[in-house]
Amino acid sequence: MKHIYQKGNDPTKPTLLLLHGTGGTEHDLLPLTDIIDPNASILSVRGNVLENGMPRFFRRLAEGVFDEEDLVYRTNELHDFLNDAAIKYEFERNNIIAIGYSNGANIAASLLFHFQDALKGAMLHHPMVPRRGITLPDLSGKHLFIGAGTNDPICSPQESEELASLFKDAGASVEMHWEDRGHQLTITEVEAAASWYKQL
Ligand code: MLT
Repeated sequence: MKHIYQKGNDPTKPTLLLLHGTGGTEHDLLPLTDIIDPNASILSVRGNVLENGMPRFFRRLAEGVFDEEDLVYRTNELHDFLNDAAIKYEFERNNIIAIGYSNGANIAASLLFHFQDALKGAMLHHPMVPRRGITLPDLSGKHLFIGAGTNDPICSPQESEELASLFKDAGASVEMHWEDRGHQLTITEVEAAASWYKQL
């Protein structure tokens, strides 16, 4: 997968996995790392799917309607990529914390839905429920931050709450952060994620 890897200056820190929103690239979320953790290593990945020229992490049939077969395929593909990248770049495989926005948050949520040890934790900005009707792995010990908007037209507050409940039922610790805004990623939401990250 097309990506950027930047080695951090503190090997005890997690590797931050950056996953952009629809139409983004591996460059988009790099500025967030200055706020979250300037000393961590960074692995920023570009989604392998194109929708009218816009990179995404998996196909969708319509706005908010996911192509489940492709979602599962792409989730496995990203999981394999992470395993290979940990060997290639010699970072600790079990110490990856994702930062995902929108479509990137959805693939991060899908990694957590399908694999027990894909991620140690995640900051999910405006995620949706990636799939329904499956049993999640045991996610105890996983730390998750969910940023959501009370007026998000793409992900309703009910869906954000549903996702938080599914993660909690699977044993994860979940912090919800609400913005009185829509789908956009605001600086206050990123700062809330940074405070959450600092107390991990
Ligand atoms: C998705 O397709 O993953 C969600 O609708 C969010 C987005 O628009 O990327």
